[in-house]
Amino acid sequence: MPSHLNLNGASRAARGRVHLEIARQSRDDWTSCGVRPAGCSLHTSPAVTKAVAAAAAAAVAVPHGAPLSPSRRPPRLMTSAALLRRLASNIGREEAAQELKWLRQHASGGHDSLQNLLAKRVAGQPLQYILGSQPFGDLDIIVRPPVLIPRPETEHWTFRLADVLAHKVRSRSPISVLDLGTGTGCIPLLLCHLLPQGTVRAHGFDISPDAVALATENAAACKTPAVTNDRRVNTFSASLADFASARFRAEIAHLLPCDVLTSNPPYISTSEPLPPEVRDWEDHRALFAGSSGLQCYDVIGNLLAAPGFLAPDGVVALEIGHTQAQPVRDILAAAGLRDIEIWQDPWGKDRTVVARSGA
Ligand SMILES: C[S@@+](CC[C@H](N)C(=O)[O-])C[C@H]1O[C@@H](n2cnc3c(N)ncnc32)[C@H](O)[C@@H]1O
Repeated sequence: MPSHLNLNGASRAARGRVHLEIARQSRDDWTSCGVRPAGCSLHTSPAVTKAVAAAAAAAVAVPHGAPLSPSRRPPRLMTSAALLRRLASNIGREEAAQELKWLRQHASGGHDSLQNLLAKRVAGQPLQYILGSQPFGDLDIIVRPPVLIPRPETEHWTFRLADVLAHKVRSRSPISVLDLGTGTGCIPLLLCHLLPQGTVRAHGFDISPDAVALATENAAACKTPAVTNDRRVNTFSASLADFASARFRAEIAHLLPCDVLTSNPPYISTSEPLPPEVRDWEDHRALFAGSSGLQCYDVIGNLLAAPGFLAPDGVVALEIGHTQAQPVRDILAAAGLRDIEIWQDPWGKDRTVVARSGA
């Protein structure tokens, strides 16, 4: 097991499985209520989210001066037993028992008292922010508000992309990978982890200083250097940049043409309502992309259409909202890309548009 992993194998696998299971449940709910599935798949189902939010609201909505009945106390004033009962009534006994195990484990590491951790959870804080990490493949990605928590569907297509790139790096390496809107750095870091050492030179860009700092921290935790004289090692660096700015192409001219472009850009329409657990905790710059949700794909399409951006036989992989396959396919076709495919996520939803440049 790589030394940077801080969960033992069994609990990591269990956490990954439970997150996938939770995400699977939430996907259908969010789809049916018209909210972006990918952006919302993370922690709990909408039913759970609503229940947690309602409980938190009920817990704090006490008229000024009114005596606090035990059931209406703010989470921070409740005992651990009462918090656990509240959590179980919000998310179900089985899930609460599982979360309790992780929160106990976290508390025993001296991070915070179990009571405080439970209070944060009952008040609606995403579990991953409380625990401070999210499994992503074999990696344990550090997460911190407001940087977007990596989603299981992103992990899924990143694995599939690594398979595609494994063929590519056999014929030519190292390959350069640009990741637009890198967030925690999860996509390029997993590619660096999965592909043979010495075959990847990855660079991530984000408009958020919090994201760039976290991606840099994750690179160090994953033992992936930004630069090295050792040609047998994969590298990843994160930089502050706005990929929608007119200067962007000039700023990264030294990295062009790139062999691979990845992005999980913001893709939620500004008119879509989001569960409080997402809306109140994650950076809105990571979520929303104009009234159509397609704003970033137009920008990426323009970048790709410029001569010399993508190398011959280059690969593009863009995560999408499940209703956006056709417009994003059209944008990439207009940018001159070919062999356009739509990959589905583990829940059968269109999730990634993959394309190539001409040879
Ligand atoms: C949906 S999040 C994806 C984060 C990460 N790649 C992942 O999959 O977990 C989108 C990211 O794009 C960044 N972003 C949004 N607009 C941007 C822009 N114009 N230039 C650079 N980064 C941008 C946000 O700050 C956010 O970190």
